[in-house]
Amino acid sequence: MKVIWWLFILNLQNMGFVLGVGHHKYCRHDFPPAFVFGSATTAYQVEGAASQDGRTPSIWDTFTHAGYANGATGDVAVDQYHKYKEDVKIMAEMSLDAYSFSISWSRLIPNGRGPLNPKGAQYYNNLINELISHGIQPHVTLTHTDLPQALEDEYGGWLNPRIVKDFTAYADACFREFGDRVSYWITVNEPNVFALGGYDQGVTPPRRCSPPFGINCTRGNSSSEAYVVVHNILLAHASAARLYKRTYQEKQKGLIGISIFTFGVVPNTNSTEDVMAAKRLNDFTIGWIASPLVFGDYPDAMKKLIGSRIPTFTNHESELVKGSFDFLGVVHYTTLYVQNDPGSLLRKQRDYYTDIAANITNFEEIFVTAEYPILPWALQGVLEHIKQTYGNPPVYIVENGQRTKRNSTLVDTSRAEYLQAYIGSTLDAIRNGSDTRGYFAWSFLDVLELLDGYGSSFGLYYVDLDDPDLRRLPKLSSYWYSHFLKGGSVSPDILIQLNTNFSASRGHFFQ
Ligand SMILES: *[C@@H]1O[C@H](CO)[C@@H](O)[C@H](O)[C@H]1NC(C)=O
Ligand SMILES: *[C@@H]1O[C@H](CO)[C@@H](O)[C@H](O)[C@H]1NC(C)=O
Ligand SMILES: *[C@@H]1O[C@H](CO)[C@@H](O)[C@H](O)[C@H]1NC(C)=O
Ligand SMILES: *[C@@H]1O[C@H](CO)[C@@H](O)[C@H](O)[C@H]1NC(C)=O
Ligand SMILES: *[C@@H]1O[C@H](CO)[C@@H](O)[C@H](O)[C@H]1NC(C)=O
Ligand SMILES: *[C@@H]1O[C@H](CO)[C@@H](O)[C@H](O)[C@H]1NC(C)=O
Ligand SMILES: *[C@@H]1O[C@H](CO)[C@@H](O)[C@H](O)[C@H]1NC(C)=O
Repeated sequence: MKVIWWLFILNLQNMGFVLGVGHHKYCRHDFPPAFVFGSATTAYQVEGAASQDGRTPSIWDTFTHAGYANGATGDVAVDQYHKYKEDVKIMAEMSLDAYSFSISWSRLIPNGRGPLNPKGAQYYNNLINELISHGIQPHVTLTHTDLPQALEDEYGGWLNPRIVKDFTAYADACFREFGDRVSYWITVNEPNVFALGGYDQGVTPPRRCSPPFGINCTRGNSSSEAYVVVHNILLAHASAARLYKRTYQEKQKGLIGISIFTFGVVPNTNSTEDVMAAKRLNDFTIGWIASPLVFGDYPDAMKKLIGSRIPTFTNHESELVKGSFDFLGVVHYTTLYVQNDPGSLLRKQRDYYTDIAANITNFEEIFVTAEYPILPWALQGVLEHIKQTYGNPPVYIVENGQRTKRNSTLVDTSRAEYLQAYIGSTLDAIRNGSDTRGYFAWSFLDVLELLDGYGSSFGLYYVDLDDPDLRRLPKLSSYWYSHFLKGGSVSPDILIQLNTNFSASRGHFFQ
């Protein structure tokens, strides 16, 4: 899922300059042989069949049904539940090595706890088998914003430590049912963005916040809940990872990790204050998750600035969390410019954004639904930062892609340019020693986006929502990616050729 983190959406106009950026020319054989290229979606954004075959609502269903996703819901979404065979065929034609998707917890275990729903298990078995029979690796995320509503109602979901036990039991069911064929597991997607959107700003499920922060929440506490939620997610992740490592890993030979939403971060000036503010912002976004996983505790800057509002790890918890991953998943879209803002620490009411004591200055470019600026060096910077700060762990880039207006055109040149630039910068990072092992373009096709419903899109494939059959149509970006995956070299010149050829033949490309 691409979360449109509304505070931070940017719109720098100049797209053209990218043609001069990065590699003049590269191809997939420049990457290590085992490097995996794929594309991603998540359950609620594509499956549909929301109340079919025993699935119960998640907090995301509740959110969309209250009208918060631009009036759209995932009741039907793009109906992958019924169209998975067609979609896997497209993936195979595109030459994807891998497909990253998530399991709907409330489809597999209705209401979050108790017996498995056989029809839910059957769906994921079918999807996994279909992928494998087409030579496509399944990469599976256990939960992606879509906590069963029943657990939210019963005890407050991720706010309550009781979630650790229920999440571990759910993970156990997934490892047991699917782990013989799934070798890559992500426990929880982007805990940092999930917690901020859902519990500080209150703009994403489950919409909790408190004045003066957020918008129109009826309950919550923006000063503390996001920190509590991330804490519980880290404990739940660690518990599931320990179970996997102890019980399944030796036999199933898979890997387990967690994903982190990242930004490129650039200080506004080279003053010590702004450079420190940029460092803090990295600690607050990446370090919030990575530091406990690697070192067993939150970054010092966070503990100092947040004080008693951030939970403390007991020694036992710290030991559990430390080292509880085989890889980190990196989600990356865009870049923030920051300046030091010590004044925010003097405010009477504090939350994450005031705790950072840094002002995001490309702020006025926010509410624009346009495309992201193409700043590939920022992804290289994130990978370099992870390499240097966290001991060069294995990394999978689990989401990266360009946003456009949903129904504008199939000739999505800016998306093809974006992919070309960012995959090129991934290559640069690998050449400089980063242990990055995979890249997943968000998204395989146009999906339900979290805040924007069907208004914006990231897909390599367009889905015609006016067609009762929801037909899929390739965009230029799928043509570009497929060319690259089949071993073709890519460069600004090749992109122009592909553009010309695609425009001439679009819609018939895969025949
Ligand atoms: C907040 O609630 C008020 C009053 O119900 C409403 O007028 C306003 O549009 C709401 N704002 C948002 C952003 O939902
Ligand atoms: C939020 O939680 C903090 C820390 O527990 C507490 O000090 C504060 O009073 C709470 N604020 C609200 C609005 O409930
Ligand atoms: C900061 O220093 C770097 C390296 O010397 C330079 O490239 C950059 O332009 C400087 N940034 C600003 C805002 O002055
Ligand atoms: C943050 O940056 C914006 C844009 O430059 C500016 O308008 C605002 O005054 C700054 N806020 C603070 C607290 O410095
Ligand atoms: C495209 O989407 C926009 C915004 O949802 C809408 O206003 C417009 O009519 C749509 N255009 C077409 C051709 O469907
Ligand atoms: C390459 O890696 C070295 C060693 O970690 C580091 O010092 C250097 O800054 C990196 N170069 C780039 C361009 O990131
Ligand atoms: C575009 O089409 C021309 C003419 O068929 C062909 O020679 C060229 O190789 C194609 N370019 C790419 C990048 O596929």
